[in-house]
Amino acid sequence: MPTVVDLLGEIAEVGGDPVHGYDRHLFTQADADLTRWFIGHAERLGLRVEQDRNLNLWAYWDGAAEPRVVATGSHLDSVPGGGAFDGPLGVASAFRAIELLQEAGFRPSKTIGVAAFAEEEGGGFGMPCVGTRLMTGIADPVALAARVNAEGLSFADAAALAGADIDALGPDADRLRAIDCFVEVHVEQGRYLADKDVPLATASQVFAHGRWRFDFSGEGNHAGTTAMADRRDPMVAAARFILALTESAARREQARATVGRIVAIPGGVNVIASTVTAWADVRAGSVTDVETLVAEIASRAGEIADDGGCQLSAVCESLTPATFFSSSLTERVENAIGSEISVPRIPTGAGHDAAVLGDRASIHPIPTAMIFVRNPTGRSHTPMESASAADCELGAEALARVLRELS
Ligand code: GLV
Ligand code: MN
Ligand code: MN
Repeated sequence: MPTVVDLLGEIAEVGGDPVHGYDRHLFTQADADLTRWFIGHAERLGLRVEQDRNLNLWAYWDGAAEPRVVATGSHLDSVPGGGAFDGPLGVASAFRAIELLQEAGFRPSKTIGVAAFAEEEGGGFGMPCVGTRLMTGIADPVALAARVNAEGLSFADAAALAGADIDALGPDADRLRAIDCFVEVHVEQGRYLADKDVPLATASQVFAHGRWRFDFSGEGNHAGTTAMADRRDPMVAAARFILALTESAARREQARATVGRIVAIPGGVNVIASTVTAWADVRAGSVTDVETLVAEIASRAGEIADDGGCQLSAVCESLTPATFFSSSLTERVENAIGSEISVPRIPTGAGHDAAVLGDRASIHPIPTAMIFVRNPTGRSHTPMESASAADCELGAEALARVLRELS
């Protein structure tokens, strides 16, 4: 029976490698290869596979007594240059947990569903949790269709090339109503468990987070012949904006602000750019805290643009409120894991499909909970992300106990 690490090893060369990291985005070859891997494992375990109309993959172990679904799983996509665990650990742990239950002769009364949600990281089209945002009615499929990836390809065109039907995207109340609860296993994305020397935790809440696109437009010109005083250089405005943003977040408790991506047009070494786009990822305790920080920084960005003779446009690309996981479900998860190991309950600054499914803005919020697995490096969204083989097995065994209890 393959262990969690064996399962992850089977996809170790898909969309990258463990040293340089992974680029696994929706509608790419890596996405197709990961889908094939998911279907292969589901079929090996005798599960019924389907892709829902929002591009999420599901593998069902049908219940003996009722069709209501106890859902688990995570996502298979990555950030650009991502690690091997963020996402795939939750899917591999789900397959492993089901195999443990099958070996033990267990038959679920309710249906157990394993999900691989589409494009959780938003690495392709800038919107995180695409699959769950669509099914919960939080994302607008029409606006999504117009988004473009780094190659300039629209979501609609990329979907058409991959043979996906974008007319079918949108709220899926029937599927949500059939789900009793969702429990996601995920690698921890910080150092809490490593520092405490504890292998597993549950999650209390996800902080509010959003993404904004800031376009600074100036005047393209020659790097050698344009006097410094005559320039309208959007790169300088963007640099001042990034400093102001990070300083503003550093002054606030719990706030985080990151510019992890900028694009200069046209991007020549000897060319003063005509436009620079900087994407800001902003997180804080509540959506009001996030919006207050962004309003302050947008006004500062406007002054910086004016000062440099540039124009500014700022657009919110996604905004997710703080989400509190179901405390009753989390308590059941902790009880099912058992008392041999102490399981702390911790908040996280990272976004998750479990938070979107539990979001009150959903057409049908469902109780969700998470199990975090210790990450010795404490790093994530990098190939340095890690989890030991023994901890991965502990996580899957814990999930098996949880699924047995819930189903
Ligand atoms: C996803 O992992 C996020 O927090 O952006
Ligand atoms: Mn992630
Ligand atoms: Mn993740």
